[in-house]
Amino acid sequence: YVIVYSERNENMAQRQIREVGDPLLRKKSRVVETIDDKVKQLIDDMYDTLKASDDGIGIAAPQVGVLKRVIIVDLGEEGEGGPYKLINPVITKAKGEQVCREGCLSVPGLLGDVTRPKEVTVEAINEEGKKVIIKAKDLLAICLCHEIDHLDGILFIDKATELFDADAEDEE
Ligand code: NI
Repeated sequence: YVIVYSERNENMAQRQIREVGDPLLRKKSRVVETIDDKVKQLIDDMYDTLKASDDGIGIAAPQVGVLKRVIIVDLGEEGEGGPYKLINPVITKAKGEQVCREGCLSVPGLLGDVTRPKEVTVEAINEEGKKVIIKAKDLLAICLCHEIDHLDGILFIDKATELFDADAEDEE
C-alpha cells in the first residue's frame, strides 16, 4: 500500500508551548502595529500548535514565546465557535457572571474554577486588517477572556478559587 503524506503536514509549524514558571508568560504583550508576514506566520503557527494539542480551544502568542497581542479561539464543532484569529483584542463590554472549570496548555495537569463575565463584546482586527466585533457568551466568552488575560501576563491559576488535578477529573 501507499502512504501519502500531505504537504500540509510536512509544513506544520508547531511551536513549543511555554509552561508556567517561564517568566515570558508573565510579561505584557505589545500591540501589533503592522500585519506583516511575520505576524501572519505567527498566526498560522499558533493555529497549528493549537490543533496539535489534545483538547486546547484557545491559544495566545505569549504561550509560544512571542509578546504580541494575538490570540486564537476555536471551539470546534459548536456553531459560532470559530476559529477566531484576533489581533489586538480588547474587551469593550462585559455583563453578568459565570463560573467555569478552566485549563490551559501552559498549565498542564491543573484545572481551576474561575469566575468570568457571562457575556462580552470583543473588538479586534482580523488577519486582513479589518475591524471585527464579536458578541460572545458562555464558553466563547470564557475562552476570549482567558486568552486576552494571557496578553497581560495573567494565568487562570491567578484567578481560580480552587485548583484540581486534571488527571483525577478524567477518571470521574
Ligand atoms: Ni491559557
